[in-house]
Amino acid sequence: MISPSILSCDFTNVKKDFDAMNEAKADFVHIDIMDGNYVPNISFGPSIVSQFRKLTDIDFDVHLMINEPEKYIEDFVKAGANIITIHPDSTLHLNRTINLIKSFGIKAGIAINPAQELSILDYTLEDIDLVLIMSVNPGFGGQSFIESSTRKVEDVKKIINNAKSKCLIEVDGGIKLNNALKVYNAGADILVAGSAIFGSENPKKTIIKFKELLK
Ligand code: DX5
Ligand code: ZN
Repeated sequence: MISPSILSCDFTNVKKDFDAMNEAKADFVHIDIMDGNYVPNISFGPSIVSQFRKLTDIDFDVHLMINEPEKYIEDFVKAGANIITIHPDSTLHLNRTINLIKSFGIKAGIAINPAQELSILDYTLEDIDLVLIMSVNPGFGGQSFIESSTRKVEDVKKIINNAKSKCLIEVDGGIKLNNALKVYNAGADILVAGSAIFGSENPKKTIIKFKELLK
């Protein structure tokens, strides 16, 4: 499955990029929320997300790169989030925050940064719906894929299979048409792609190409 990251879309004509995602039948819309605190960049908040909600029926895959995400979960649910993914080191009581997300009847994910180990899954896997493997350091679109991420995806896949869990694996950062298959074959279920889609000549065609590649 493909989750285009709108961080790289054309914000002077955002409807055009949402039309491309609608017409190409993207599986999700990946929405990066940055607070200039957990990550060194600022994007946008829930009121903008609720505006995006008017442009598509595709599920919103909201990636919170903010400190104390528990303060804003309800706002993003109201804005239309279908999945909310948080970073474990951004919240003091991770289990409580995961439960808070799920209390709204939506899916909960946790994101693992490039240098972070997988031991956090020992006591969270049974409570979450998705593991987001960051294949770049969070904060910016257009960075290069960190190669050790492929091995990490394989390792997460093993953990999920051993636990007989239905948890999905999403990979975020530096995904292009020429490395997508490698990551998919390592065990990813959902690939995020921002600059590869919205930096391309024809975003609609590029989404279709990703979908064909990942069939
Ligand atoms: C980075 C974000 C990514 C980013 C991906 O912090 O989480 O979702 O938009 O952009 P590309 O695909 O350009 O690496
Ligand atoms: Zn992201």
